[in-house]
Amino acid sequence: MRTRPLKVALLGCGVVGSEVARIMTTHADDLAARIGAPVELAGVAVRRPDKVREGIDPALVTTDATALVERGDLDVVIEVIGGIEPARTLITTAFAHGASVVSANKALLAKDGPALHASAAGHGRDLYYEAAVAGAIPLLRPLRESLAGDQVHRVLGIVNGTTNFILDKMDATGAGYQEALDEATALGYAEADPTADVEGFDAAAKAAILAGIAFHSRVRLDDVHREGMTEVTAADFASARAMGCTIKLLAICERGADGRGVSARVHPAMLPLSHPLASVREAYNAVFVESEAAGRLMFYGPGAGGTPTASAVLGDLVAVCRNRLAGATGPGESAYAGLTVSGMGEVVTRYHISLDVADKPGVLAQVATVFAEQGVSIDTVRQQGRGDGSGEASLVVVTHRAADAALSSTVEALRKLDTVRGVASIMRVEGE
Ligand SMILES: NC(=O)c1ccc[n+]([C@@H]2O[C@H](COP(=O)([O-])OP(=O)(O)OC[C@H]3O[C@@H](n4cnc5c(N)ncnc54)[C@H](OP(=O)(O)O)[C@@H]3O)[C@@H](O)[C@H]2O)c1
Repeated sequence: MRTRPLKVALLGCGVVGSEVARIMTTHADDLAARIGAPVELAGVAVRRPDKVREGIDPALVTTDATALVERGDLDVVIEVIGGIEPARTLITTAFAHGASVVSANKALLAKDGPALHASAAGHGRDLYYEAAVAGAIPLLRPLRESLAGDQVHRVLGIVNGTTNFILDKMDATGAGYQEALDEATALGYAEADPTADVEGFDAAAKAAILAGIAFHSRVRLDDVHREGMTEVTAADFASARAMGCTIKLLAICERGADGRGVSARVHPAMLPLSHPLASVREAYNAVFVESEAAGRLMFYGPGAGGTPTASAVLGDLVAVCRNRLAGATGPGESAYAGLTVSGMGEVVTRYHISLDVADKPGVLAQVATVFAEQGVSIDTVRQQGRGDGSGEASLVVVTHRAADAALSSTVEALRKLDTVRGVASIMRVEGE
């Protein structure tokens, strides 16, 4: 084993960074044996230098992250600051000064992945970011390496623990969205401002990264269709249960039917209870991959938290250090397929539509005609009078697979019918 240590700088020492530093120290011998050389923590950049950081030598702590990455003697820089800047500039500066980079930054990778990969390749360095998608779950490396000989058709994932916790509570207890969110906040599963999670921004960033890797194409964050889960109601769960389904916020990346285009989207969807993802409870994450040769694979585990996320960061650190010692680099960006990203209108799936309609003869036929005119085939219809003297009924229509654009035109036409008092909910049905 080489005795001269590999020098590692840690940018950020918060929830994830502090655990990376702790495990690097407590398992130093194991890491050295697995890498083939010891690793030395050469500096730790933070915002608040006076904060007490257990197990970190205060002499290593600096607020000047730029000077740290410009030292020129670093082998690896671990970026766990988060956000776009200064993380982006620090990463490219690290490459320019000869270091490889491990990052957990989904926001940055989803926004600027191609430019960062180009910078890494230009300097002959590695850029690894397993922790950016689904925390501890080994996912990017399996997609990039283990499935490199296969053709992935679809990636279906629960990639946000906060929203899965909220939806699971709603399902299990009959709670409404706000009540379940309050519980998630009280238990520390939701941030004070939960927007990034509940509006699907976090999952959309992960979907962009997943789709790019799975389909060897560039998928930008703006290419991902995003709908949050704040409108999901207890009534939606009741409807889902009646169909033998639950509701999950899913990140879905798939090849189009013609095999040329790909799509990436995040939205709540009904999922049959028989689907493996339906059993993913609380704040766990899971990703279901369908590929030509391997068939159906499921990756499951903790999608966040300091220690689980540090596991993924350290796995990358070992891989990058091994490459370094071998004088090689690991796989970089693979975008050779150049598949175009389809708009949401072209996505084909099934739909569950709840309508409030006048409770009188002929309404069902009128509604069915609108679906037929738009080329959307109906699978089942369930009508239930309210029995409250309002003269209204609930009509639940489940369609066969249809293009999203056709469904949108159908809903537009339904809204124009006098007998349709309102469209109570529209939800896609996935995983069948
Ligand atoms: N937390 C998770 O469960 C999780 C899971 C997967 C991925 N990630 C990703 O991991 C990254 C870090 O997340 P986190 O939860 O560890 O964040 P965090 O707890 O907020 O920690 C951020 C760290 O960055 C430091 N920092 C902020 N601005 C800085 C600057 N300009 N220069 C130097 N240091 C700066 C902070 O310093 P102070 O300590 O002085 O404030 C802090 O140590 C993010 O990209 C996040 O998306 C997190």
